[in-house]
Amino acid sequence: MNEQLLTSLRHALAASPGDSALRLHVAEMLHAAGRNPEALAEVNTVIQKEPSNVAALGMLGKIVSGLSAPAIPVAPVAADPVGVPPAAPEAVAAAPAPDRVPADGGFDWDRASSELGEQLPAPFAVGMDQEESGVAPIEPEAPVITLADVGGLDAVKARLNESFLAPMRHSEIAKAFGKSLRGGLLLYGPPGCGKTFLARAVAGELGARFMSVVMTDVLSSYIGQTEKNLKAVFDSARAETPTVLFLDEVDALGMRRGSLTGSASWLRQMVNQLLLEMDSMAGDNDGLYILAATNHPWDLDEALLRPGRLDRTVLVTPPDAAARTAILHYHLKKRPIAGIDLPALTRRTENLSGADLEHLCVTAAEKAMMESIAANEIVPLNMGHMELALAEVKASTLPWLESARNVVRFSNDHGRYDELASYLRSRKML
Ligand SMILES: Nc1ncnc2c1ncn2[C@@H]1O[C@H](COP(=O)(O)OP(=O)(O)OP(=O)(O)O)[C@@H](O)[C@H]1O
Ligand SMILES: [Mg+2]
Repeated sequence: MNEQLLTSLRHALAASPGDSALRLHVAEMLHAAGRNPEALAEVNTVIQKEPSNVAALGMLGKIVSGLSAPAIPVAPVAADPVGVPPAAPEAVAAAPAPDRVPADGGFDWDRASSELGEQLPAPFAVGMDQEESGVAPIEPEAPVITLADVGGLDAVKARLNESFLAPMRHSEIAKAFGKSLRGGLLLYGPPGCGKTFLARAVAGELGARFMSVVMTDVLSSYIGQTEKNLKAVFDSARAETPTVLFLDEVDALGMRRGSLTGSASWLRQMVNQLLLEMDSMAGDNDGLYILAATNHPWDLDEALLRPGRLDRTVLVTPPDAAARTAILHYHLKKRPIAGIDLPALTRRTENLSGADLEHLCVTAAEKAMMESIAANEIVPLNMGHMELALAEVKASTLPWLESARNVVRFSNDHGRYDELASYLRSRKML
């Protein structure tokens, strides 16, 4: 076999890993040279991506029939409707007899896998390895924003300062007054109102690295893997401090353990692992700050909210007037605009979240763009476009505030939601 040719083909494959025809060509070469396990790995890569690639299935049949007798069944599958090239004639010829077609007409992976298991050392299904090796490493970010970048929200900033930032910055004074520095901070509030943005700003204030992990990404269906993933996340956060470890959508993990039964016991183990990691945070302030965010704090496991864990909570309210002005300004400043009345827009967007405001600006920009295309010249984004967008974009914070009102009315026994209660009162919603 021409090794040089194979090497250059492999380089080409590394550059464009999605080129199935090239990959099958490499597989063909390897098969011709008797290097069937390598050929099979290439074919499997194609089949994982395009399960009905006829050429790949034909090649699989050819390789396998060379490995063992009788041949592994390979079902002739209809060509992929999304443009798989027609199979090479020899590949079709290599397809097995129709009596081996599984009942559902698809390729019998289970059977092929068990038969091949005896032939090959490596796992048959390419991709299993990756899945089992856990979450992709989280790249820490250098903090680029501070609270000064957060528009408005003075009450939220004051709460953040008093409950978290000031004690962390002045640890000796805090300790003298008996204030524990252990434990983390839970940000809660309606979706799209700046929880993630504020967490980043807190990291900036502390001059810490920012590592963000979305809890659903840590979840794995493999037994024990989620705990390992969580441990790996905490270990990499501890590796270099100061670091803010931000656990986003923490409710995915911290669901009330009492409501988890039977098959959900793995979830309970995972919650336990999270508690263990938080409890094992050494000393009073080891430079690892845990911040978490949720839209549903009432669904969290009580154990997560105990002293030393996420024991401080801060409500991130919908953007007030100053915040809305800052967000609107941010999203409009890089677009061609004319005659925008920012104070009027601020007044008319009272219940919009930060994400809604962004959507509003994008929608208005689309209108201006379409008008520009029709006129064949740049028509700047104006209040007319904004009006059209205002009619389309719905405020998303009200449904959240309404459900939160019920929580405050019926389950605020510990006074945990006093802050929410006074916000609702200030909005005359309670
Ligand atoms: N006070 C603010 N000043 C400037 N920008 C803000 C402010 N509040 C929110 N934003 C912007 O609004 C958008 C939504 O914020 P973010 O993603 O932090 O919300 P979230 O509460 O984490 O949402 P989710 O619940 O969907 O995770 C972001 O683009 C953010 O930059
Ligand atoms: Mg967020």
